[in-house]
Amino acid sequence: MPAVPHPNRLPRPVPRALAAAAAVLAATALAASAPIWRPLEKDGIHDPRGPGITLLQQPAEALSVLPRDTAGNHVRWVQALDSGAIDPRSNILPGTEVRLRTDDLIIAKYGSMPAVKFPHRQHTLWLDCSNCHDQLFKPVAGANTFSMMAILNGEQCGLCHGAVAFPLTECNRCHSVPNASLPRPVRR
Ligand code: HEC
Ligand code: HEC
Ligand code: HEC
Repeated sequence: MPAVPHPNRLPRPVPRALAAAAAVLAATALAASAPIWRPLEKDGIHDPRGPGITLLQQPAEALSVLPRDTAGNHVRWVQALDSGAIDPRSNILPGTEVRLRTDDLIIAKYGSMPAVKFPHRQHTLWLDCSNCHDQLFKPVAGANTFSMMAILNGEQCGLCHGAVAFPLTECNRCHSVPNASLPRPVRR
């Protein structure tokens, strides 16, 4: 299916706070780029004296065999799924309807960065529609107003990205479409 361009684009300057936040994120990305998984007894989450600590599989053992990423928890999860390296079950109850959607949406209002491509496929492989619609995002192309500041504050895409999905340091993974490649009415 062809990408659906955003109907209107407005130029908007990058706020200074946003530039500062991006700089902090970039520094964090450098610090986090070594591919290491902390042992469970040192992750600050598990009780090192708990009886489970010797029974649980260590992250390094479980994750090092999967397609490698340079950020977040160092696994490229979409590749892991697409290559069959992992095969999670999609439902527990037999009656659950598994819904997939495969269109990409182009979010391109501002133009100070490459346009954002939102891929439905890579999301509905893991998530049901109700995780995003209608509360988080209206299911109508162009009906939502996105802001990088809100995203950095953990809202919108940032509700998951930086929490349970690849982190916000990976600008180009969202801002992946050169503005010049967009059709005329969308381009400034
Ligand atoms: C991870 C969040 C997320 C999930 C899960 C998700 N969507 Fe969306 N959906 C979006 C976003 C973001 C947009 C773009 C809205 C915009 O352009 O303002 C969108 C747009 C849409 C649109 C408008 C498309 C158009 O061309 O006008 C429809 C319809 C839609 N979604 C249906 C679904 C259905 C059905 C599912 C489940 C199979 C689903 N979505 C799952 C985030 C999601
Ligand atoms: C409800 C949670 C959720 C929300 C909201 C969400 N995402 Fe995601 N996103 C995921 C998960 C989970 C993955 C797959 C795991 C990963 O790649 O880290 C993913 C993957 C992606 C990928 C594909 C990465 C790849 O390797 O192919 C892109 C691009 C992306 N998201 C962009 C966005 C954008 C843009 C928004 C906001 C419009 C958004 N996401 C909102 C959870 C979410
Ligand atoms: C999870 C996806 C995602 C990631 C990662 C991401 N962005 Fe964004 N960003 C968006 C979305 C969605 C918009 C809204 C785009 C629009 O409407 O044109 C946006 C908008 C912006 C804007 C436009 C001005 C504004 O305030 O909205 C700037 C500048 C920006 N991002 C910079 C960055 C930088 C720098 C990074 C990396 C440090 C980054 N973004 C990472 C999704 C993302």
